[in-house]
Amino acid sequence: MNPASDFVMVANRLPVSRDDEADRWVTSPGGLVSALVPILTAREGAWIGWTGAPDDAPPPFEHDGMRLIPVPLTAEELESYYLGFCNNTLWPLYHNAIRTPAYHRHWWRPYQAVNARFAEAVAETLNPGGTAWVHDYQLQLVPGSLRSLRPEVTIGFFLHIPFPPVELFAYLPWRTSVLRGLLGSDVLAFQTEQSVTNFRDAALRYAGATEPPGREGELEFEGRRVRLQWAPISVDADAFESAAGRPAVIDSAERLRERIRPARKLMLGVDRLDYTKGIDHRLRAVQTFHERHPEAARDTVLLQLAVPSREEVIQYAEQRERVERLVGQINGEHGDPGYTPVVYMYRHLGFEELVAAYLAADVMLVTPLADGMNLVAKEYIASRTSDDGLLVLSEFAGAAAELKEALLVNPLDLDGLAETLLYAVTISREASASRMRPLRQTVREYDVYRWSRNCLEALES
Ligand code: ADP
Ligand code: G6P
Repeated sequence: MNPASDFVMVANRLPVSRDDEADRWVTSPGGLVSALVPILTAREGAWIGWTGAPDDAPPPFEHDGMRLIPVPLTAEELESYYLGFCNNTLWPLYHNAIRTPAYHRHWWRPYQAVNARFAEAVAETLNPGGTAWVHDYQLQLVPGSLRSLRPEVTIGFFLHIPFPPVELFAYLPWRTSVLRGLLGSDVLAFQTEQSVTNFRDAALRYAGATEPPGREGELEFEGRRVRLQWAPISVDADAFESAAGRPAVIDSAERLRERIRPARKLMLGVDRLDYTKGIDHRLRAVQTFHERHPEAARDTVLLQLAVPSREEVIQYAEQRERVERLVGQINGEHGDPGYTPVVYMYRHLGFEELVAAYLAADVMLVTPLADGMNLVAKEYIASRTSDDGLLVLSEFAGAAAELKEALLVNPLDLDGLAETLLYAVTISREASASRMRPLRQTVREYDVYRWSRNCLEALES
């Protein structure tokens, strides 16, 4: 029996990871966790999720003031539920099918089984009349299952990735079950207005939901009201801004700049190595930049930081090879003993190292082909301590709806992106400040704390 709570956060992963050497749990970095720790602590809430290791189900434990309830996943479920259905079916389908999604019944059944297990764990944990806040594409069936087990509780769901256009979603053989699962929620929140519209269209067409007259932003499903919310997630802007003001961070930003001399401008990319992030297209645009404008390009260095991700999935291994081949090509074609056009690092960086890179960068390149939000774009802006620096942002990132003063690009237009790079590295200080000033204002005003307040208010009103 799990310890009872009035508020339960539910996500595929727990907000901790295991440091086996030190024999302890470490809180995961990131704004979502920072925003939720105080909420969980104040409400004596619990977080239900997987530890990140197969067949690992320690009993519930406390960490950093949070009550954590592990849900076990077997090694087979990691193959079928996580690598298969989550990362080979849903992830590519929801990201505009930029890789071909695979549909297998032997992945769907474990997805159902794992979702049912999560729902049972929530049902066991939640006090009568309590609130569950379920997150992301791994757990879309949890609201529906939980609704059957505990009809009286309040259920919120937040999708961190895009909800695809109905024409694409229609391909999913289990589309109606997924919609019914999501429609178990009281409030369903999405990163963009486009995702809200896409979901509404799919729910009307494939799940028999209806739109109650005169009540915009709501659906009716099985006699209940389901509210649809646009709630773009954000970052802990204060944490980035204050880290960027610390002497040690300023020093490492300075050292980084000195090391890349004699180049004049530092361009930066920071991504999980995922094929949605468009790292390969970005590199090809940089290659084009060097071919078309060799003098201006030679005054730049691209620092590309890539964090390893889902390495067991074949498309990720292929993407890594593609990226590393391109880095080698560009450096081979345009570098010399005194000049390396692209510096590439494939590893996880510490928080302060990351902020130092943001602080040192003259131009930040965020060019995904599809992305729910893209927090890196907001982290870069939050780390600026003055109005210099420029953000080149894909129009296909959710963040583009809010960060309108960025230089918006179509990352597939390699010639256009190369010309944008030329513009970005030659723009006047005043012109770049007139873009950065309002961006900093936006990110400061709408931070992750405001996002979580908005979501919880919608859920509890
Ligand atoms: P996604 O959720 O798809 O990974 P986001 O841009 O929304 O994309 O979030 C990525 C997170 O991962 C950011 O918080 C970013 O700081 C972090 N991150 C990305 N690359 C690195 C890296 N090389 N080292 C450390 N953190 C990284
Ligand atoms: C994205 C997803 C998250 C996921 C994260 C890391 O941000 O929206 O749900 O946790 O990527 O991916 P992973 O597969 O390692 O959990």
